[in-house]
Amino acid sequence: MDAIEVIRAKRDGRELSDEQIAWVVDAYTRGEVADEQMSSLAMAILLNGMGRREIGRWTEAMIRSGSRMDWSVLDRPTTDKHSTGGVGDKITLPLAPLVAACGAYVPQLSGRGLGHTGGTLDKLESIPGWRASLSNDEMLAVLREAGAVICAAGDGLAPADKKLYALRDVTGTVESIPLIASSIMSKKIAEGTGALVLDVKVGSGAFMKDVDAARELARTMVDLGTDHGVTTVALLTAMDRPLGLAVGNALEVEESIEVLSGGGPSDVVELTVRLAREMLAAAGVSGKDPEAALKDGSAMDAWRRMITAQGGDPDAKLPKAPETLEITAPSSGVLARLDAYGVGLAAWRLGAGRARKEDSVSFGAGVTLHAKPGDTVREGQPLMTLHADDPDRFTRALQALDGAYEVAGTSGPSLLPLVIDRLTA
Ligand code: URA
Repeated sequence: MDAIEVIRAKRDGRELSDEQIAWVVDAYTRGEVADEQMSSLAMAILLNGMGRREIGRWTEAMIRSGSRMDWSVLDRPTTDKHSTGGVGDKITLPLAPLVAACGAYVPQLSGRGLGHTGGTLDKLESIPGWRASLSNDEMLAVLREAGAVICAAGDGLAPADKKLYALRDVTGTVESIPLIASSIMSKKIAEGTGALVLDVKVGSGAFMKDVDAARELARTMVDLGTDHGVTTVALLTAMDRPLGLAVGNALEVEESIEVLSGGGPSDVVELTVRLAREMLAAAGVSGKDPEAALKDGSAMDAWRRMITAQGGDPDAKLPKAPETLEITAPSSGVLARLDAYGVGLAAWRLGAGRARKEDSVSFGAGVTLHAKPGDTVREGQPLMTLHADDPDRFTRALQALDGAYEVAGTSGPSLLPLVIDRLTA
């Protein structure tokens, strides 16, 4: 086989054969196919697409590039959730221990943030002592102890995706539905979960800006999961405004703890409970109801066990940024718009996110919201508080928020419903 032949086939709009796909993914992982050849092929895939068979084979080849985890030693079903990423999306934090408290195991491999969306591992690392890197044996021990584990994927899991994702990031080839779907699903299938719920975000703060593109991505991923024996369900959910009231690492941990204590913002609670019910149903577990587990403290107990088992101190004080700046309502009326992307970009510029993989994040930086779209506000009332380690960061954060919010007359905004659609096999 040769790489140029494979590139030409996709460039000319032809389907790749099973053999071509298996070969090119394997040869790229081994370094036999060069980065410039794979970036050319990725661009041809972005422009000409792939059919269901091709996406399935591509995903299979990426899974085969590494090891596949196996949780069959556990005595209860496993279930997991994956979000395509959004602003203020801390749902994994309360969700994993909540589902564990309701009777299923949650082995969750998560990532760090890049760009304006935060990463689950960055958020959890704001808890003093908490460790993201665990061996497979340690993962199993935490699962047995707490019912849930959230940690970084090891190098052995879908290494082809690791290499290809880094290449796509710098060659303008991230935004391809076949490549996004195969990237996400190769990791989730290799993780060995029996059931999977996908939270596909839609709106300015998400990868997918419109509902039709999000639905196509969700359909592709549900089909991939189903074809690989994983019970897979997808929800399309709103990301036109931030989720909850906290955006930033430690700020989001704090809000997650409020949810686990039976409080928290209504949209975060509603989505956490909905996703928990979907995860339990997909795994065939009909134990305790998630709403009850939030109220009776059992989800909080699972959280404390999970954090402690990974070296963290659930009672430790979380980092706080020393500098704050308040933004107030310019007039009285209704908060008609609060753009997710603008708030995410502001939090990132305040130090909550990173520009390059090797950068560190500020745990205390971010944005606290005091009003959400649809709320009535008075002139001069605080709309949000910016948090940073260094006051020099405020100028660029304020630029990101310029035009991102609007106080209008009396008419309410037209918002996407929190849960827009649900897709199954
Ligand atoms: N997340 C992934 O893991 N892969 C993509 O391609 C996009 C988002």
